[in-house]
Amino acid sequence: MSVPRPAAVIVLAAGEGTRMKSKKPKVLHELCGLALLDHMLAAARGLEPDRLILVTGHAREQVEAHVAATSPDAQTVVQEVRRGTGHAVRTVLEKAGPIEGTILVTYGDTPLLRTETLAELLATHAREGNAVTVLTAEVPDPTGYGRIVRDAAGAVLRIVEEKDATPEERAIREMNSGVYAFDGVLLADAVKRVSTANAQGEEYLTDVLAILREDGHRVGAYVAADHAEVEGVNDRVQLAAARQVLNRRILERHMRDGVTVIDPASTWIDANVVLEPDVVIHPGTQLHGRTVVAEGAEIGPGSTLTDTVVGEEAVVRNAVCVSARIGPQAQVGPFAYLRPGTVLARKAKAGTFVEMKNAQVGEGTKVPHLTYAGDAVIGAGSNIGAATVFVNYDGVNKHKTVVGDHAFVGCDTMLVAPVTVGDGAYTAAGSVITDDVPPGAIGVARERQRNVGEWVLRRRAGTASAAAARRAIARQTEEAYQGEQAEEVDKAGAAEGAVPAEEQREK
Ligand code: UD1
Ligand code: CA
Repeated sequence: MSVPRPAAVIVLAAGEGTRMKSKKPKVLHELCGLALLDHMLAAARGLEPDRLILVTGHAREQVEAHVAATSPDAQTVVQEVRRGTGHAVRTVLEKAGPIEGTILVTYGDTPLLRTETLAELLATHAREGNAVTVLTAEVPDPTGYGRIVRDAAGAVLRIVEEKDATPEERAIREMNSGVYAFDGVLLADAVKRVSTANAQGEEYLTDVLAILREDGHRVGAYVAADHAEVEGVNDRVQLAAARQVLNRRILERHMRDGVTVIDPASTWIDANVVLEPDVVIHPGTQLHGRTVVAEGAEIGPGSTLTDTVVGEEAVVRNAVCVSARIGPQAQVGPFAYLRPGTVLARKAKAGTFVEMKNAQVGEGTKVPHLTYAGDAVIGAGSNIGAATVFVNYDGVNKHKTVVGDHAFVGCDTMLVAPVTVGDGAYTAAGSVITDDVPPGAIGVARERQRNVGEWVLRRRAGTASAAAARRAIARQTEEAYQGEQAEEVDKAGAAEGAVPAEEQREK
């Protein structure tokens, strides 16, 4: 279908959204990684309009800052006082100058509206040569919406708001979505002639239809196939419902493109996430922001990735990853937390109960268990023992630790930064490493063990420990005695040329 590009899309978003009961403007509430408003702007952008115009009013500073940061192609027009949808459009046409061609008007709070549906509206508008074409839908419960009044032949006569409607008109189930394609020049003239003589004392944009029809122009409607698509979000219940529909759409797009989603009901993927074919997403997984997952990688179960890049065939289980880069065939989790600046090279591992921040881990290096690695650079082929801590914070400043290639950091090593463990160096388990360990050396930084014999028998007399120790000691004494006896026999046997008992046992 070839659709004429609209001269402008005007998105109305000056309203308060009081039913959200929020300090945040309604159109900035998040779903699928984008603000409510962004979904509408994205759908509008798909039509390639010459101008994308957003009407702001309530909390305009916040909305304008958001739009400037995320939709620099959109222009904002302020509606200082909200006198109705007609007034909002009139304000745009007065401030932005005359717009020739087709103008599409829509709202900032209809996140499910697709480019395809808007294109159908535009195509109908062009095909029928209408002055205005309204997007409508048949809904089970039209309460609160404007109703489409048609004549006996089915031609659209006008739109009546619920508050102004007669009981017969209220029975009409075809609702006004609030989305229209207008002839720009005719709209500019008609919107000036809208009165405020109605139940709400507002300038209704809906009145433009009757005005244009009375002027002898063609007025039409395009009925949307799915009414859910045109329904707006007014409260957080509707926000959650819309989020679910959008998420499902996103999942289905990925599944059709070759991604396996084991449990769509518990999987949440933001609109801008990129997934390559043969990615497998396990239940309870959320992929947010600019996350990218390469071919054949497996994510989940129970993983939340934000702005994280995952290489091909990597496996990420029960992990939380924020602004991390996970290399091809790397392994993460179960139960890992990768914070910003974590970079795992190919086949590296950040295993169970491992937390990393600003840490580079070289190719094939394993950090398998119970480790915190902050501000670290670790080479290739190294092994970081369980319970190692990269002690990066001195209470005031953060310091860096460097571990070389093919190093072996013993279990429970404290690497007190700044410190370097050289290539091929070891640290002894339980060491507190405060000085650099040269390549090939082993750093041993702990007291030599001493045992105080039978301390428990004396100092914890009468405890179960003391009793257990006493039994063990008695057993040892008994074994030692029997050993002596056996030796006596061996000696006697050896004297007779027999095989010693020791060697017999080995056989
Ligand atoms: C409007 C329609 C109604 C339609 C419904 C669909 C009118 C008179 N009525 O009713 O037929 O069924 O939408 O949701 O148009 N806005 C401004 N400036 C204003 C007033 C509104 O920008 O001065 C914006 C709001 O932010 C909102 C949209 O326009 O995004 C609709 O406004 P709202 O007050 O919700 O209109 P409804 O009464 O719901
Ligand atoms: Ca509304």
